[in-house]
Amino acid sequence: MLNSTEYMKRIIMKKPSTLLFVFALVCLMPSAYAQVNSLPHLSKEGAATQLIVDGKPFLVLGGELHNSSSSSLEYMQPIWPRLAAMHVNTVLTPVCWDLIEPQEGKFDFTLVDGLIQQARRNDLRIAFLWFGSWKNGVSTYPPAWVKTDSARFPRMKDEAGHPLETLSPLSAATRDADAHAFAALMRHIREVDGQTHTVLMMQVENEVGVLGESRDRSAAANEAFGKAVPAELMQYLQKHKDTLIPEFRKVWEDAGGRTSGTWEQVFGPGKPKGLAIPVRTLSPPMTPEEHETAWRNLYWSVDEIFMAWQYARFVGQVVQAGKAEYNIPMYVNAWLQQRDHAWPGTYPSGGPLPQVVDVWRAGAPGLDMLSPDLYVQEFDELATRYTRSGNPLFIPESAGDARGAANVLAAFGQYKLIGYSPFGIESTSAAGPDGPPAIAKAYELLAQLSPLIVAHQQKGTIAGVALDKDHPSKKIQLGNYTLSVSFARSWMTAQNPDYAGAIIISTGEGEYLIAGKGVSVTFSCGRTDCPAMGLASVEEGTYTGGAWIPGRRLNGDEIMSGTGLRLPSENYTVQKVELYQYR
Ligand code: DGJ
Repeated sequence: MLNSTEYMKRIIMKKPSTLLFVFALVCLMPSAYAQVNSLPHLSKEGAATQLIVDGKPFLVLGGELHNSSSSSLEYMQPIWPRLAAMHVNTVLTPVCWDLIEPQEGKFDFTLVDGLIQQARRNDLRIAFLWFGSWKNGVSTYPPAWVKTDSARFPRMKDEAGHPLETLSPLSAATRDADAHAFAALMRHIREVDGQTHTVLMMQVENEVGVLGESRDRSAAANEAFGKAVPAELMQYLQKHKDTLIPEFRKVWEDAGGRTSGTWEQVFGPGKPKGLAIPVRTLSPPMTPEEHETAWRNLYWSVDEIFMAWQYARFVGQVVQAGKAEYNIPMYVNAWLQQRDHAWPGTYPSGGPLPQVVDVWRAGAPGLDMLSPDLYVQEFDELATRYTRSGNPLFIPESAGDARGAANVLAAFGQYKLIGYSPFGIESTSAAGPDGPPAIAKAYELLAQLSPLIVAHQQKGTIAGVALDKDHPSKKIQLGNYTLSVSFARSWMTAQNPDYAGAIIISTGEGEYLIAGKGVSVTFSCGRTDCPAMGLASVEEGTYTGGAWIPGRRLNGDEIMSGTGLRLPSENYTVQKVELYQYR
């Protein structure tokens, strides 16, 4: 993806005479040009893909509301200022199909308008979550005229033929009704917000996938499952063979690497007949070892791949209908495979999980991002799996506690994060005995550093680290040095805190800015024959309006007698260090 300036530069360099043409074009159509380019969009800027809002990169310091809060404007009234005070800049909030289209074709956007106005009054932005045909796998948000008409809007069936409370994604009628409502929503958002851009992006559906079964077993689904894998998917896989996600490619190759055939011929056998899917994979009981390892294995992949294709095709059409009305970034979110939910069907089978990213890319090319709801402890492992093949990382749901605060600092550096959003943010907004909650303090720091973070994300001169009990130290290679990061210790603190995190920026040769809490950092050249080196100077300070305002000059105990930085566990600080070498 080229940004518009780069694109213009390339055209002009190839053929200077086009300069006049481009100039005339811009003069003739200034308002149209400005409008198209000012819509929130994703753009590849140097080493990072960033969200551009009103012409500038924007870091989403988000928070997702509980599911029902925003159904009442009165209930929401006191929440907005509390979130703003926590340095949240974007609120993720549902828009529910049943509330905007209670009768077929009759739309009511009162709530949408009210939320946009409330957000504006509090200087906040919004990402709307389209709770359409599915939310957490099931179909509780479609309007009654959809829910009650199973003949027109068919449901999935389990193996025994029982209906699930889940609409089947194989239905064109359901897809068209969902897409029609979503398009009306996007048209309305363009009308009321096309100039102001309070609404930054859209999540399409919520954690889609089949629960209680590994795949849809309705008659229509069984028929499609027995037919050939669509040529469109097969062609995509062959074209992208070298860059396919490795675990997905292995499933395909283990089944013989065929380029045509039925789903089971191409991707192997599905779930054995008669095997019931429990709610959690603890039942039937597993040994602790099985429980620990099962969630990283794949089971009956064909069922998951088949469903991923059905959901991707459905969601892809909803996205297309919405973007035709108002083209802002759109993403889908995933309920991840995890310890208690290891088998497809105990987590939503066919959702945008890392193992089926390629299927989603093939089926829904209009989507901008596939996003994990990242609650599991293995934050780095999942963030890494989601950034493979260039997927920009946006985390719409996660923890908002001390762990979340450590991870968010690390992730904006390490994964060039677009945004982070703890779930149930309105419950974490009260200040405790230690003042504002950890996430508010981390957001304050990130807001302060944001001009620097976006610039260094583009240059690729940024990293981050989060520590916990299982990962009490980490090594980071950045600039010309290896940084060893571990829990900050002092002679006064007996034990490590549970979590610590920092964002690290290489600001020049032998110069770093490190911001966060509870870490110590030492430097080496990463070889055994490093020259002797030390810290020339360490300053604590803040950024105000992009300018560094120095505070204390740190030395002695505060720099561990010259051996490294120490960011205290008690509060968030920013430190600047210059290294030097001596003989
Ligand atoms: C994940 C869902 O996406 C959210 O809407 C919410 O239901 C949370 N789970 C609840 O923990």
